[in-house]
Amino acid sequence: MNDRELKSRFLQEYGSGEGIRMFFAPGRVNLIGEHTDYNGGYVFPAALTLGTWALVRPREDGLYRFRSTNFERKAECHIGKVEYREEDDWANYPKGVLKEWLRFSDLAAHLKGADILYHGNILNGAGLSSSASIEMVTALALMKLAGADIPMLELVKLAQRAENRFIGVNCGIMDPFAVGMGRKDHAMMLKCESLEYRYVPVHIDGYKLVITNTNKRRGLANSKYNERRRECEEGLRYIQQRLPHVHRLGDLTPGEWESVKDEMPDQVIRRRVDHVVSETKRVLLAAESLQQHDLQAFGQWMKQSHESLRDQYQVTGVELDTLFEEARRIPGCIGTRMTGAGFGGCHISLVKEEAVKRFQKEVADRYTRKTGLIPTFHICDIGDGTREMTGEVEA
Ligand code: GLA
Repeated sequence: MNDRELKSRFLQEYGSGEGIRMFFAPGRVNLIGEHTDYNGGYVFPAALTLGTWALVRPREDGLYRFRSTNFERKAECHIGKVEYREEDDWANYPKGVLKEWLRFSDLAAHLKGADILYHGNILNGAGLSSSASIEMVTALALMKLAGADIPMLELVKLAQRAENRFIGVNCGIMDPFAVGMGRKDHAMMLKCESLEYRYVPVHIDGYKLVITNTNKRRGLANSKYNERRRECEEGLRYIQQRLPHVHRLGDLTPGEWESVKDEMPDQVIRRRVDHVVSETKRVLLAAESLQQHDLQAFGQWMKQSHESLRDQYQVTGVELDTLFEEARRIPGCIGTRMTGAGFGGCHISLVKEEAVKRFQKEVADRYTRKTGLIPTFHICDIGDGTREMTGEVEA
């Protein structure tokens, strides 16, 4: 849908009238640095050109109406009563953001209602942060309508609070950060705890980022995710008995790890720590490779990351491993790995532009033959973070 079609859809939904503004928030993908965020290590996400658009027109009666071209469910609430309601489904995300804005006493008086129409082209549940994207686009739109100018980083924190408090998902800051702060043709090297970050240029001329969705239902993902977190905490406790200055596994240097590794009695915990230490180092090396325009080296770090997630952290599974094996066989695919929590979700590959068609066809055929599932592909570019759209047509 282009922006003219979106506007006419808006008018169809909400009736005629002036004053419609359009906002956009991207989805995100983590290029490398998996299961490092909650260990105090680095992540390396980038914002995509896929994302969520919001067309917004102010009201004066305190009513907020939420509709989407992607979902049938319509929802509305008055500023006096913003509550989580199961049946409101996706609309709980924007409602959570509204609730957080209403806590800002300076802003609350200027939140007078709006009609909002969302349109997204990120697949839900694919691990590309469709929820952070809806939250961030709402956070910016409501702020602009209230005539305020609050730094993007504060919007990022607000979106995270909305998700934690209203939706009840204990997510980290990586997703809203990448969605809010993304920059075209750059990835962000971020330490999630301190929010220390820097932009690293990603020049992939002649190549495409191909995201492959396993389309596997992630049944065990949550319990396994929590299990890994517990294992890391156990590893840290053990290490602290020997190296008391280490506060997070992400701070442990490879040298320090070597000095205590062999004494660690539990082989499983040892593998988990091994992944965190090596992945933290890989993020730094991968960023360095990009800085030097060495895409081949970057691709190698991606592959090593997958192998470590498969063998040491053990969060891949047959679907992601099949994609990994099949993708790397295709000439022109120079890097490939799982992305996100694992156990399903998505895989990301760096593929020569002229090989993309063949990549899609051969990977899909072989993946389906081995797993019985049909994968879906997104060919992505790295885009800017959350913003108001003025005159751009992207949808
Ligand atoms: C999920 C979490 C992220 C991160 C990844 C693994 O996607 O939401 O915070 O922990 O898993 O890197």
